[in-house]
Parts: sequence; structure tokens; C-alpha cells
Amino acid sequence: MARDAVAEIRDRIDIVDLVTGYVPSLKRTGRSFKGLCPFHQEKTPSFIVFPDSQNFHCFGCGKGGDIFTFYMGVENVEFREALQELAKRAGVTLTSGPAPVPELDAHRQRLVEINELAGTFYQNILRNSRQGEAGREMARQRELSTEMVVAFGLGFAPDSWDSLLTFMASRDIPAELVAEAGLASERDSGGYYDRFRNRFMFPIRDRDGHTVGFGGRAMGDAKPKYLNSPQSAIFDKSSLVYGLDLAKDAIRKADEVVIVEGYMDVIAAHQFGYANVVGAMGTALTESQVGLIKRGSKRIVLALDADAAGQMATMRGLETMRDSLDSEEQPVPDAMGIIRFERKLNTEIAIVQLPEGKDPDELIRRRPEQWPEIVRNAKPFMDFAIDTLTQDLSLDDARAKSEAVKRIAPLLHGIPDRIVQGHYIGLLSRRLMLDERLVLAEVRRSTMSGRPSASRRTVAEPVPEQQRPRSKEDFLVALLLKHHQLTFDIATRIPLEDIIDVRNRELIRVLSDPALMDLTAEQLVVGLDDDLADHAENLLTMLEGRPEAFPGNIQTEASQVLENIGKERFMFLFRQLQASLQEATREQDSDQVDLVRHQIAQLSQRHQLFYPAPSPYFKDSRTPQR
Ligand code: CTP
Ligand code: MN
Repeated sequence: MARDAVAEIRDRIDIVDLVTGYVPSLKRTGRSFKGLCPFHQEKTPSFIVFPDSQNFHCFGCGKGGDIFTFYMGVENVEFREALQELAKRAGVTLTSGPAPVPELDAHRQRLVEINELAGTFYQNILRNSRQGEAGREMARQRELSTEMVVAFGLGFAPDSWDSLLTFMASRDIPAELVAEAGLASERDSGGYYDRFRNRFMFPIRDRDGHTVGFGGRAMGDAKPKYLNSPQSAIFDKSSLVYGLDLAKDAIRKADEVVIVEGYMDVIAAHQFGYANVVGAMGTALTESQVGLIKRGSKRIVLALDADAAGQMATMRGLETMRDSLDSEEQPVPDAMGIIRFERKLNTEIAIVQLPEGKDPDELIRRRPEQWPEIVRNAKPFMDFAIDTLTQDLSLDDARAKSEAVKRIAPLLHGIPDRIVQGHYIGLLSRRLMLDERLVLAEVRRSTMSGRPSASRRTVAEPVPEQQRPRSKEDFLVALLLKHHQLTFDIATRIPLEDIIDVRNRELIRVLSDPALMDLTAEQLVVGLDDDLADHAENLLTMLEGRPEAFPGNIQTEASQVLENIGKERFMFLFRQLQASLQEATREQDSDQVDLVRHQIAQLSQRHQLFYPAPSPYFKDSRTPQR
């Protein structure tokens, strides 16, 4: 089947070979292989590869999946990139043609070179030239260390209309090109002049450290305070993160990234050894920025000044919030935006609210040792939202309470994990001294898009099983796809680690994306990458010929299949642990016995967490409880 590249690649690459390249400690034990987990720190191996079923699981951190998921995890890349790389290794040609690789074409490459050259020019002025004295004075005042000036490539643009242009001309670079690179402007009367004059220059680099633009800070109170490179083929502020090139290793090491607003804030943090800090450059955090950052760590801490925090917490009406998602003007995304990032990008966002009138630059320079504590005190976004929305509320004010619940309900509705959702429903209810069931009902009623959910309970005979598809996994995803809107809630609560086929995982990600909730199966398939689209179409074909079923039955069926998948995976892993336990007992290795017992307990706990016995609250998410 030439069309099914994923299956072809899977046939050709043995998971044991692939993993061995990353896990040198991998050794055969019985039918499986065992080694130190590459996804978390451990001293005793709990990472198992199953050659028969070509998948892996770590009993320490819970990660699992197939060759693709493994590769995505260790290389920190998305499915698309993993597919391309593994296809190359397997010698499989992707019929679908690769998605555009972020490779600079020759012209863009040239524009980047011009920016890098300008960077050198500005640095030279700052470090060596008489014209750079004002810049050096500012560096002294702001207590910038020489190391940071060098590391961030800081520079100074002289107070002149043509210094840079003259320098570029001496290198045979025409003014038009300097302008196209965003460094010069054209006069109405013709001719060009330097865009950046008498400014302290911050090169803005991409993840790989290439300078694609600049931010220039005015001297003193001159206006505008900051001037940036104009939007261009190489410079798009909304998909750049300041300092990421220097921060990416530290982010991975700390498994946490802190986002601050400004250039000076980032530099101050790095100067004092907090290198996992990057800058959003004053604009609203965008999805593509979060996407870039989370390649290093899924835990994102937003350090907001008091103003921005207040603004976000105000959370105006739902309608305006949705409109504002498209706008770049706000300093922070609104609450709904954050929830969307968290879900769509599978990240965890926590908020630090900085004291009034303080920015990280000042805070860190004054009391550098306090920074870790400030970051540690970051609140998970939902706690932050509930706190800020309820803090000034009078408990006697019934209307205000109602308003607060209405505002928070859609956010709560968006929480995919039932346990977490229940936790916050409890928290909010206690805070407002309301019956939990009332809050729950409000949450069930609201949807992320503000549309009342179409719920209907119908009682009829169960759907007969026809044309049993290849696997439970495929069957589940087929159901979720075909009955997307009806089963959306189910899609959002699937523990992805239990889904082995990477294509099914990717589809579930799409199916549980609230932003796509209103699309039909056909519309969804159209928007997919070719390889996923092929798979999706195959899944839909499997369901052809099934009689129409009642909505309630489809939901029940999907839930049951999901539960079976969970049970199967649990039993599979449980048996593995049982075997390990027997072996450890036989060898009288009491440490190992303890460890495996612990892992068994963890596995069971996890299973109960994700597949809880039906409780009266969570039995049917769509029916408000009475
Ligand atoms: N910013 C920008 N353009 C502006 C204003 C702000 O690009 N017109 C970005 C810059 O990245 C800036 C950040 O937003 O660093 C925060 O702005 P602000 O708080 O005004 O500046 P600071 O970084 O605090 O600068 P300073 O400490 O020098 O006042
Ligand atoms: Mn500042």
C-alpha cells in the first residue's frame, strides 16, 4: 500500500533500533527491552520497549506510544517533522509532498545576512566608536554587563541619517536592499535614510540565532520609545520570541519557560543566571509563539505586570473576547486565548502577577535571589482567573456572583480533564458559597463557543456492531470523527498515552480542539495533512453501512470503546509489571520489588484517574444534574 506511508515506515523501522540510538542502556529482558527513560531523569530503568507490538511505555513518567511518538518526544518535534525524518530514514517517499520546510530561500537569506551585518555594525559603534558614547552611558545606567552586551549582540545606531547606508554601500549593498531588509526608509522625494537613529539596538533573532530584525530603544524620553523593524518577509514579530536562541537549552533543562514582556527584562534575567526567560516583546502572546516555546517545555509561566494581569482578568463579554483573539494589539491574550493555548498546544500556563509598577528588570536587579520564589509562586491559570474574578466580590451581591459564575463557566467547560474540572468547580463554589451542583449546571450549559450544547438523551436499542474495524483505537477515532460534535466531550477526555497509533493521536488532537468544534467530519478532513486525511478517510469508510444510531447511543458506544481501550492497555502493562515482579522476587532484589510494586500502584492509580468509575457528577457531561 504505497499510499499509507505511515504503515510503510512502521514496517521498515524497528522500534528497538530507533530507541537504541537514544537509549544506549536498552537491554533485552524476556520478550521486551528495558532501559533508562529518555523523557525523565531516573537511575533505575523503567522504560520498556515492546518489539512484538512495536510500542513503548515508561513506568516512571507514563509516556508511551509508537516510533513516531517516540521520535516526536525525544526530538521535540511535531508529527509532520517526525514523519518526514523517519520517512527519510526508512527510505520511504512521501507521496503527499512535504509541508513547506522553513528553509530560507536565497533572497530571504540575503535579507537576513544584511541584518546580521547591520548587527555587527551597531555592535561596533556601541563598543568602539565615539558615536556610541550615549549607548555606553545607557548600558552603564541600566547596569548591563559586558557579557550580556556580547551575548545579546547589543548595539547602538548613531545619531545620523546615513551611517548605516554608507557602511552598507561600502560593502556594495544597495540602499533598496537595505530598505527591504527593514533598516532604511524611502523618502517621498526619493532616496533613502537610516531607519534607526540614536537608538540602543536589540537584535531580534530566530530560534537558530539568526538576526531577522531589531528593536531600537530611544534615548531618554524621546518618542517612540521603541521602534521595531517593519513586518517583512523575514521579520514577523508575532512568531518570534526574544532571547529564545539563548534560552532554549536552559528551558529544556529547567523544564519551564518564563515569559516576560520586554527586552531589558529578558537580559536582566539572563545576567543573573535565569536563562530560561524569554520575551514576548510587548505584544499579545500568539499561538505561534507558544508553539515555538513549548518545544522546550510544556510548562509556561507568564510574568505579567499588574496592568496586564488586571486587563486579562477583566474578561469582557464572550463575543468581544473571541474577536480579540485575532487582534495583535493587546499586551496579553485574554483568558479564552490562554485556555485555547493550553488545550490546543497541550501546555500548562501559570501566571505570575508582578507588584504594581514593577517590571522583572527592576525586580531581578534589586533582589536577584527572590526571582525563583516569584516564579515558583506562579498560579495555574485557572486559579489565577478564579482568584482575580472573585477577589473583590461581595458575597451578599447575588448578581455579581451570578455574573462571575457566567464568566468563569466557559473557561471551566474548556478543561479537558474531568478531575481537574471537578476540582475547580469545587473551588469556585466554595469561594462564592454556592451549591456545587448549581455551578456544575452552569458549566455544563456553557460551551467554549458560547453555544448551548445540543444534548438529547434517547433510549433505543444499542447499535449493532458491523464491520469491526482493525483495532479498537481505529474504531473509536472513526466514531469520534463521524460524530464529531456529538462526541466532542469524549474526545477531550481521552488520555493520549493510551492511544498507540500516532495518526489516531493526531486526529484526536484535532477532534478535541475547541476552535474546530463546529466543523463537520468532511470539513475537518479537508483541513488535514494528506497522510492524516488518508487515514481519516479510511476510518470513515469503515463505518459505512452502519445503520443510523441515536445520539445517546453513539456517545455510550464511544465511551465504552474508550473504556475498553484503557482497560486493555492497563492489562497489557499490568502483566508486564507482574512479570517484572516475579523476576525481582525470584532474584530476591528487594529494591526492585519495591520499585515494581510502586509502579503497579501508580499504574492502577492512573487508570482510576482517567477511567473513573462513573460518579453521579460525571456520568453524563451533557445532562445538568438535578
Ligand atoms: N515594545 C515594542 N514597541 C513599543 C513598546 C514596547 O516593541 N512601542 C516592546 C519591547 O519589546 C519592550 C516591551 O514591549 O521591551 C515592553 O515595553 P515597555 O514596558 O514600555 O519597555 P521596557 O522594556 O520596560 O523598557 P524600559 O525598561 O527601557 O522602559
Ligand atoms: Mn523596563
